[in-house]
Amino acid sequence: MDNRPIGIFDSGVGGLTVLKEYLKELPNENYIYFGDTARLPYGSKSKNTIVEFSKQITEFLISQNVKLIVIACGTASAIAYQDLVKSFDLPIIDIISPTAKAVKDSSIGVIATKATIKSQAWENEIHQYSPHTKIHSIACPLFVPIVEEGFADSEIAKLAVKEYLSAFEKSDITSLILGCTHYPILKNTIQTQLGEKIKLMNAGHYSALYAKEYLEQNNLLAENTGELSFYSSDDGNYFKEIAKNFFPVIENYNVQKCML
Ligand code: DGL
Repeated sequence: MDNRPIGIFDSGVGGLTVLKEYLKELPNENYIYFGDTARLPYGSKSKNTIVEFSKQITEFLISQNVKLIVIACGTASAIAYQDLVKSFDLPIIDIISPTAKAVKDSSIGVIATKATIKSQAWENEIHQYSPHTKIHSIACPLFVPIVEEGFADSEIAKLAVKEYLSAFEKSDITSLILGCTHYPILKNTIQTQLGEKIKLMNAGHYSALYAKEYLEQNNLLAENTGELSFYSSDDGNYFKEIAKNFFPVIENYNVQKCML
């Protein structure tokens, strides 16, 4: 048993979709969430910058006595995971590797930010477990602002989804990985566009399943009722304002500003 919190971080509020998946699988854990709202987006930044920011956040979470770090951010998972594992001596779980292990398709789609797609992290990871899987990846940079503006179910969202994803309709993919924190919010719009035959894989869900298995196997599960703490690098009210669109319970929490 280990009642220390799990530290989970993202470039901003999107990682709350990953936190939601963790709360479903591991409701008794305590969580400290950090959203780097002052420095987002990560999806259009360079590798060095993303690694540096991710290291700073990890140091902060370690100073809060966490037992495990979860990289909720798809872009930081793609770009900084290896560096973090090399630099810090505690378990770190990203959203890419656990999802890649779950891939059973011979042809699969991946959507994510520009930086994630450019890194080819998904290709590299999926091919470790399924070397013959064909991977079709597309960057969808407009999805993040659409979600943050609260337009997930609007005509704008439908048009953007159609524009980016119609290429998949002509392909033979059987699943589509949602490789960015915000994309699960667009799940209904994406599923409607692609049809029910294509299974949507929420990367945060696979990360949470993996973390559960890891904590169980290592006797690290917490035994108390889950407590949540939130930090953001910009004003906490700004964080709450955007987050309330898709994580309404945020209204009940204080988000503390913490500049790194
Ligand atoms: N959290 C980022 C991701 O999952 C999306 C937002 C950003 O670009 O910072 O890739």
